[in-house]
Amino acid sequence: MTSEELPLPYDRCKDLEDFDNTKAGVKGLVDAGIQRVPRIFVRPPEDADADGQDLDMEFEIPVIDLGGVLGAGRLDIVSRVGAAARDVGFFQVVNHGVGKDVLERMLEGARAFHDMERYAKAEYYTRDLERLVKFTSNFDLFKSRYANWRDTLYCQMEAPDLDPGELPAANREIVMDYSKRVKALGITLLELLSEALGLDRDYLKDLDCAMGHSILCHYYPACPEPHLTMGTIRHSDPSFLTIVLQDDIGGLEVMYRDQWVGVPPLPGALVVNIGDLLQLMTNDIYVSVEHRVRANHVGPRLSVAFFFNNHMMPSARVYGPIKELLSDDNPALYKEVTVKEFSARGFSRGLDGKRKTLLSQFRLQTINVKNL
Ligand code: OGA
Ligand code: NI
Repeated sequence: MTSEELPLPYDRCKDLEDFDNTKAGVKGLVDAGIQRVPRIFVRPPEDADADGQDLDMEFEIPVIDLGGVLGAGRLDIVSRVGAAARDVGFFQVVNHGVGKDVLERMLEGARAFHDMERYAKAEYYTRDLERLVKFTSNFDLFKSRYANWRDTLYCQMEAPDLDPGELPAANREIVMDYSKRVKALGITLLELLSEALGLDRDYLKDLDCAMGHSILCHYYPACPEPHLTMGTIRHSDPSFLTIVLQDDIGGLEVMYRDQWVGVPPLPGALVVNIGDLLQLMTNDIYVSVEHRVRANHVGPRLSVAFFFNNHMMPSARVYGPIKELLSDDNPALYKEVTVKEFSARGFSRGLDGKRKTLLSQFRLQTINVKNL
């Protein structure tokens, strides 16, 4: 082979910068009629090999009806929520009090932003960590092993200096409305999760777990070669709790017993998952499990993720395993951490697709009796 036939050296950094400089995200590529997945998005074969298998047994992510939460059915709901948080880390909720019209308008609002004219949207495009409302494709573009087929509008709600006027006019009203309603649902879920641990109803809320939140409107464009990349790489959430609204396309998958299982779209439902901070606080009783979103020929897929995370609030509170849950036989597995520190580590690492590394950085060194 002559040197002319050798593949050109691949300047990944330049390709990433060129992509970022378009400020148009993955949708910009798709709108331009791209037929192949550019190299920056291609999942390396060793990552594909290490990514695991689909679940080979019948299993459904639990669906929990919250309809009776204020009545006699509460105890049963508490036990279902607790079981799902322990065993799966994910569940869907129905009859949760957020109206179907609100869910529909939220998905429409997410779509309306991403459908905005390219140059109007570019005004929001930034990687500035201080900006409360921003449009970015791949917040970890320059750190990740491969870019994901996804664009995102980030709205950091409830920060002390949020000016609602910063939210795009295309969805300001519904984002504010959705934020208020899903926060109320989130507080109910925190109450149920507290009770399922045998703690007072207000325990987690009183630890400021609902003090701040962000809303991420994800847009997963149709992908010409979905087998080559991912919509969202495997990760766990650096939140207390996450509540996801997905449209009817599907593709969200969760690790269960080391295999992937789909979270099927269910009209009117919301998907709930335990975040890393609740796993830390519950000393591994509740599990923050890895999940991912597949790229798809069909699209765009829209989803809206609501994260309880108070890192923008001026709290110096430290979080560690809850004392009431510890005993001589069940010692603390994690050190204490402020949410600011936890989140800063998460942002600086990006979603690198490795197992639980963020949470494990805070794990105390314990002797594993099984290995002695
Ligand atoms: C996330 C996430 C899932 C989805 O935002 O952390 O996992 O369906 N989203 O978009
Ligand atoms: Ni997630």
